[in-house]
Amino acid sequence: MEQRGGEAVRKFNLMKKILVTGGCGYIGSHTAIEIQQQGKYEVISIDSCINSHENTVDRVKAITGKDYKNHKVDLVDLEATRAVFRQYDDIVGVIHFAALKAVGESVEKPMEYYHNNFESLINICKCCEEFNIPNLIFSSSCSIYGNVEKLPVSEDTPTSGAESPYAYTKLVGEEMLKAYVRSQDKVKVVALRYFNPVGSHPTGLNGELPINKPTNLVPVITQTAAGIIPKMMVFGGDYDTRDGSCIRDYIHVVDIAEAHIKALDYLLENKNQAPYEVYNLGTGEGISVIEAINAFEAVTGQKLNYEIADRRAGDVVAIYSDSTQALERLGWKTKLGIEEMMASAWKWQKNLGVKK
Ligand code: NAD
Ligand code: WQD
Repeated sequence: MEQRGGEAVRKFNLMKKILVTGGCGYIGSHTAIEIQQQGKYEVISIDSCINSHENTVDRVKAITGKDYKNHKVDLVDLEATRAVFRQYDDIVGVIHFAALKAVGESVEKPMEYYHNNFESLINICKCCEEFNIPNLIFSSSCSIYGNVEKLPVSEDTPTSGAESPYAYTKLVGEEMLKAYVRSQDKVKVVALRYFNPVGSHPTGLNGELPINKPTNLVPVITQTAAGIIPKMMVFGGDYDTRDGSCIRDYIHVVDIAEAHIKALDYLLENKNQAPYEVYNLGTGEGISVIEAINAFEAVTGQKLNYEIADRRAGDVVAIYSDSTQALERLGWKTKLGIEEMMASAWKWQKNLGVKK
């Protein structure tokens, strides 16, 4: 059993801590903001910044007025990860966001994805157990549902459809966690399956920072409006949907962040019925690509240059969530709609820069 030291840390920081892995990333940083603004816990982050920048911490501080420490450590390195856990003796929960997440890249580099996402999850589980941290939240994804026959999808919908190595790391990650909670009784887990997180902080001071050329719809929309992408493509206009384009459940990143606080409180208050539970996080509303574009244009007054192009390989036609269980058990539901998602995404893009 590891002993945690750090007398100096113990003496001066009385507030209990939540360890956020991937705290410099898109969803992790928005969750850090919400935790800090709630004021009950201090945030500690571990992020290697493989897909983010360390200055995210400054952006969060500009919004909340509070600092949080990011430990620039690769979670695949167990000893380095242990060394961070050893510094704190008052972590009450871990939210494990850190993962590689680009679907297309995962097809090209499957071993990198398996190595990173599985090893980091295993090491987090080891540390939670060794350092007696009883509450763990895991970032899962609607991508594990694949093509579904019945909509909306609930947590009981079969999850055999991982269509990419990335999605497979989430599917297997969930299975690993189920086996993990069966093997020990110290750590309980909630897995949250996000649908399509989009948008930015309403201040426009924090948002998704695409390091490479974006492939997700909303950053493509905002970069097109900003003149960085000359013309965007709508992938497929001949699907069997109300306007021929694909349907998704877009959810505001701030709503996603709030769900993590609810899920953690739920575990901290021992309200869980089982040591492993899973919840869908979506709005319950399907929005088509064309509707998303129309919403962006209406909210921002920007005209988008787009054309209908061929279908994108691997796209599911339509998927949206039944999030009743998150409402009933976690007391969580979304507050923000597509207008707030688009307005905040545009505000962030203007902050990042526009060409025209
Ligand atoms: P992100 O890339 O912005 O954030 C993930 C962070 O984890 C990055 O800052 C990255 O540097 C860090 N990281 C990755 N591997 C690491 C490692 N081995 N050690 C330390 N840090 C590491 O991604 P995000 O959009 O914030 O996603 C957060 C989580 O939510 C991920 O697990 C992702 O799979 C999941 N998710 C995201 C979406 C989405 O559309 N954004 C949807 C469903 C699920
Ligand atoms: C949304 C819709 C595109 C770009 C991905 C991951 C999934 C999850 C969420 C992590 C689709 C269309 C897009 C463009 C377009 N992430 N589109 N033109 O594919 O639903 O889900 O993010 O877990 O795992 O697969 O999101 O934003 O890429 O696409 O027409 O330039 O927008 O075809 O219908 P997707 P997306």
